[in-house]
Amino acid sequence: MHHAERIIILDFGSQFTQLIARKIREAGVYAEIHPYSISRDALVALSPKGIVLSGGPSSVYAADAPIPSFDVFALGVPVLGICYGLQLIAHTLGGAVDKAARREFGRAFVHVDDATDLFHGISPSTQVWMSHGDHLTAVPPGFDRIAHTENAPICAIRNKERGIWGVQFHPEVHHSTEGVRLLRNFVVDICGCSPTWNAESFIDAAIRDIQTTVGDGSVICALSGGVDSTVAAVLIHKAIGNRVHCIHVDSGLMRKGESAMIIELFRQHFDMTVDLVHGQDLFMSKLAGVTDPEKKRKAIGNAFIELFDVEAAKFSDAGFLAQGTLYPDVIESSSVKGPSATIKTHHNVGGLPDHMKLRLVEPFRELFKDEVRAVGRQLGIPDWFIDRHPFPGPGLAIRIPGEITKEKLDILRDADEIYIDEIRSAGLYNEIWQAFAVLLPVRTVGVMGDERTYEHVCGLRAVTSTDGMTADWYHMPYDVLARISNRIINEVRGINRVVYDISSKPPATIEWE
Ligand code: XMP
Repeated sequence: MHHAERIIILDFGSQFTQLIARKIREAGVYAEIHPYSISRDALVALSPKGIVLSGGPSSVYAADAPIPSFDVFALGVPVLGICYGLQLIAHTLGGAVDKAARREFGRAFVHVDDATDLFHGISPSTQVWMSHGDHLTAVPPGFDRIAHTENAPICAIRNKERGIWGVQFHPEVHHSTEGVRLLRNFVVDICGCSPTWNAESFIDAAIRDIQTTVGDGSVICALSGGVDSTVAAVLIHKAIGNRVHCIHVDSGLMRKGESAMIIELFRQHFDMTVDLVHGQDLFMSKLAGVTDPEKKRKAIGNAFIELFDVEAAKFSDAGFLAQGTLYPDVIESSSVKGPSATIKTHHNVGGLPDHMKLRLVEPFRELFKDEVRAVGRQLGIPDWFIDRHPFPGPGLAIRIPGEITKEKLDILRDADEIYIDEIRSAGLYNEIWQAFAVLLPVRTVGVMGDERTYEHVCGLRAVTSTDGMTADWYHMPYDVLARISNRIINEVRGINRVVYDISSKPPATIEWE
């Protein structure tokens, strides 16, 4: 997408690099991430208004330290180095970097020595987040010290003439209480960007972009029921009207009433029609006898493609397929760290068959999940939908360890509905990142009235998280647990015992399969 102004973040492998982009965007300026190994020509072609050098785990003295192959300080645009980025500035431009007496990790207080530019408007003593082993022991020639801490006497430096700033701490981390202000000072006041990038301006630009890409063609959009595909469909509809064809496949693995809800949402709020494809039989036949979680995912991916292929053929004029690819997927593929090890495939569509020859429309390739939500709200999608917990592509199939049957799916749907209903009634839904019920492949003995029962165990899972990469089990109040357990055992035939999962990720994962 065209951006009149952009900040480029060069990634040196910090776990916080994505946060730098998010915080700069929060300040109203578009920022994107590239590996430090980008070529000079590729970087110049992006016409950055400013460059941020991220942190990273290396020491500038390590034999394999990541160092750009050209002089980033000679491009004529302002540079801000963060942590490793600061050390790189000092190392390259004649300062001195040394091992600190002790590794500094956690909160610290920075005392500002000069508040004229980078620290403008920031408190004289401000809380920041530190995470470093090396630190500066000598200011490079031509630079001034502009802030210090007890532990890091040279905590921030500047060379105004050359347009270079560096800080030892991490302004992008939440605990740096005035960090967004500092980043805003850099991108707006120092780099001269206008703080106008937001959901509204994104929508305007995305609509123009979709119109140019699609021309007078049309787009097929597969709605999963999740936020990304829903927001994409509404946005594309705004751009090209009825030339977007929406398809929703009911795989039989959705939650109770979910497919009907999706169709109704589009009809009621956007006057859009969604073609409902009944895929229950095909999915059940592909899943028959399958117990291995990865094989389930594969079977589901194949069933989806088979159905989609038939449906898409009905729109022979469609040259495009909408996909809700997000920015973290895009940067992951070119990340300094390389693709992370595969624990679960997490792929719902294992690629389209070659003969389909559909070109992709991916309006959110540059957005983080939170930004897609903001776009969705701006487009008028109701909050109750935007704030729904994540739901995996393979649906309830990975919440029934062992073989899937229609009977088990129906039992799980009933239990899950009660669970979520009680969490909502208790006002806890938005505190929890993801909550769901699991139907365990064990039967236990119970007693109901005078009768012996021998039925399934239902597991309840609720976690807090920010991105699903790590998660803590949610400390659900006992009275809420008691109500949920009571209702499930009394109202759902087939379950006579309820247990609560108290495992965090890692070492457990969020889903059971
Ligand atoms: P795990 O279980 O890996 O889950 O801790 C992290 C997040 O990913 C979701 N998840 C999936 N999403 N297809 C998806 O679209 C999948 O196969 C899949 N497996 C897990 C999970 O619900 C959680 O939000």
